[in-house]
Amino acid sequence: LDRKVRQNIWEENNFINYKKMSENLAIVRSRLNRPLTFAEKILYSHLDDPEGQEIERGVSYLRLRPDRVACQDATAQMAILQFMSAGMPSVANPTTVHCDHLIEAQVGGVKDLERAVNINKEVYDFLASACAKYNIGFWKPGSGIIHQILLENYAFPGGLLIGTDSHTPNAGGLGMAAIGVGGADAVDVMANLPWELKAPKVIGVKLTGQMSGWTAPKDIILKVAGILTVKGGTGAIVEYHGPGVETLSTTGAATICNMGAEIGATTSVFAFNQNMEAYLKATKRSDIAEYARSYAHELHEDKGAEYDQLIEINLSELEPHINGPFTPDLATPISKFSEAVKANGWPEELKVGLIGSCTNSSYEDMSRGASIARDALSHGLKAKSAFVVTPGSEQIRATIARDGQLQTFEEFGGVVLANACGPCIGQWDRRDVKKGEANSILSSYNRNFTGRNDGNPATHSFVTSPDLVVAMSIAGSMHFNPLTDKLKDKDGNEFMLQAPTGDALPNKGYDPGQDTYQAPPKDRNTVDVKVSPTSDRLQVLKPFNAWDGKDAEDLPILIKCQGKTTTDHISMAGPWLKYRGHLDNISNNMLIGAINAANGEANKVKNVTTGDFDAVPAVARDYKAKGIRWVVIGDWNYGEGSSREHAALEPRHLGGLAIITRSFARIHETNLKKQGMLPLTFSDPADYDKINPDDKVDLKCTELAVGKPFTMNVHPKDGKPFEIKLSHTFNEAQIEWFKNGSALNTMAKANK
Ligand code: F3S
Repeated sequence: LDRKVRQNIWEENNFINYKKMSENLAIVRSRLNRPLTFAEKILYSHLDDPEGQEIERGVSYLRLRPDRVACQDATAQMAILQFMSAGMPSVANPTTVHCDHLIEAQVGGVKDLERAVNINKEVYDFLASACAKYNIGFWKPGSGIIHQILLENYAFPGGLLIGTDSHTPNAGGLGMAAIGVGGADAVDVMANLPWELKAPKVIGVKLTGQMSGWTAPKDIILKVAGILTVKGGTGAIVEYHGPGVETLSTTGAATICNMGAEIGATTSVFAFNQNMEAYLKATKRSDIAEYARSYAHELHEDKGAEYDQLIEINLSELEPHINGPFTPDLATPISKFSEAVKANGWPEELKVGLIGSCTNSSYEDMSRGASIARDALSHGLKAKSAFVVTPGSEQIRATIARDGQLQTFEEFGGVVLANACGPCIGQWDRRDVKKGEANSILSSYNRNFTGRNDGNPATHSFVTSPDLVVAMSIAGSMHFNPLTDKLKDKDGNEFMLQAPTGDALPNKGYDPGQDTYQAPPKDRNTVDVKVSPTSDRLQVLKPFNAWDGKDAEDLPILIKCQGKTTTDHISMAGPWLKYRGHLDNISNNMLIGAINAANGEANKVKNVTTGDFDAVPAVARDYKAKGIRWVVIGDWNYGEGSSREHAALEPRHLGGLAIITRSFARIHETNLKKQGMLPLTFSDPADYDKINPDDKVDLKCTELAVGKPFTMNVHPKDGKPFEIKLSHTFNEAQIEWFKNGSALNTMAKANK
């Protein structure tokens, strides 16, 4: 059983270690003494310390050792820049980067890709050279969407992966616990820090029966989203089990896991089964299939495993669903959809049908979709709506080009876009409707928030299976139900579409298409990382300074924030995202959304050295130039929202020392610690009110010790100084981060 099986065909020295995983599980099992869910088995087999780790679902924080890291090109920039600042020669854990998010859809695949390569040249050059330097696999623009590439190449049953993109859970279709994280977490694992995750609860979804006709795997998750809503999966892993699971292809299961992100789930998983074996074989990984078979007993839930919540779905009774508009949990079965369109006044014409994306680009999806399009063509019909196809990977594109589905879509009137995210992430130069014009679009994607696809808040975006997208594009109407409604052929004769058919895997095997992978070279010493010093999109990061060993005195309060201060208030998105690889430029958005308690306004604070009011980043820069460190006072749950690491990097970059709040959102609190800042809370939250924005404070940094309060002396502008007690959650290791200037500095030191 103790074999050396490679994780994938690309990397020679990274192996799957089921033996070690199994040993870890034996330790945990002897401690917990109860049956485990499959999700738990994956996580606990990756514990940093299986003997000592506290394990209580929904309570403890697990320290884990993931097998892999994956980043998409937008989030990879800052992650790699940070990693570089640690000065390590290569990543400590297997890592890949995927160019998929920055390609705009305009006219079609080849041209769009060419244009993107020009526009984003400096970003791609940087990523390609940094990947070569630090031993990271690099998937060039045109290779496909991160989650498809992971499924086709890197996912394996029982593995644990973190990825800097919300739909990373896609790999759960192949039995991997794949979790979407922020860049800071990715950097930790690249630098060999254990990765922390609150022990998730486990929601079981038991599938029985078998799908038929127009029902597709997508309908399972559309139904689950309707039941659980966009918040229902928070803090939980969704585990699919039951006899119905065997009836689903691996790619169909991946679709379901992918869209689990829409219910807020940590991830979703399917236990190892024979369809996974078939998929592994079809994607050149027979050895993994065999190895997994020999460990099959560890790759599914234990008998009697208990779920925190259980949902049952009978696939034989499941109807096709359409979810939306504007939210992915508004689920309507197709039989009720026409009524719903009328009742809600949703635009009745279907303007654009879009299939593909990371969610639904499998060979099965494409074959089923093409079977419907073929049916229509045989009756002399094409798509009435505009019709768009985004293949999920070069491999899928090449395979459906060889097998004819692609030509069918083109004959049907479709435009085939580049193998990339395109319209799914708003990279869509849409011309057929004006901004503000109400219209309906239907896609096989996963997210349909307002404006996501085309930046038009009046676009009603619905998500469904690729089958329904194709069928309804023929009718061009949101009222059409292919299960019950007739169409008219070119001669005016009525007919009904036949239910779709398609193969889960290509009979002739996959065609890999063009070679789009760049392996790290053998000799990496001579590689130069390409960052132009004049670039406004990229900037090399210098390691932050270590703590000077002294208490800090007379610090001004940059801003006393009042009310909600989310990571969006601290580091806004939108146009700022262009600068996500340039810390100094993006720092011009620091805290510009936070409300100043002194005047109730955003982005207007007093510079205590001049008495003038100015923008928050401008005042911070002035303090920094004058060698003055500063603090921020925050309200409740400071830093809630997305895990954006820029929200912690920016205050550190502009000279902040401490963020003192009534309470923190945990991820942001940890991110601040990682960057060498002091996240502190008022031991008595009422003390927040005692602080005046004009006060100055002293921080007794030398007092920082595990579990001990921290003293802050407050010097009011007029009035007597007083003392306040602050609390913190630093542990021993994190105190080292503060002392060394950051977690990365600490890792770099340990590696030297
Ligand atoms: Fe890309 Fe959309 Fe998936 S942005 S990763 S295709 S959800």
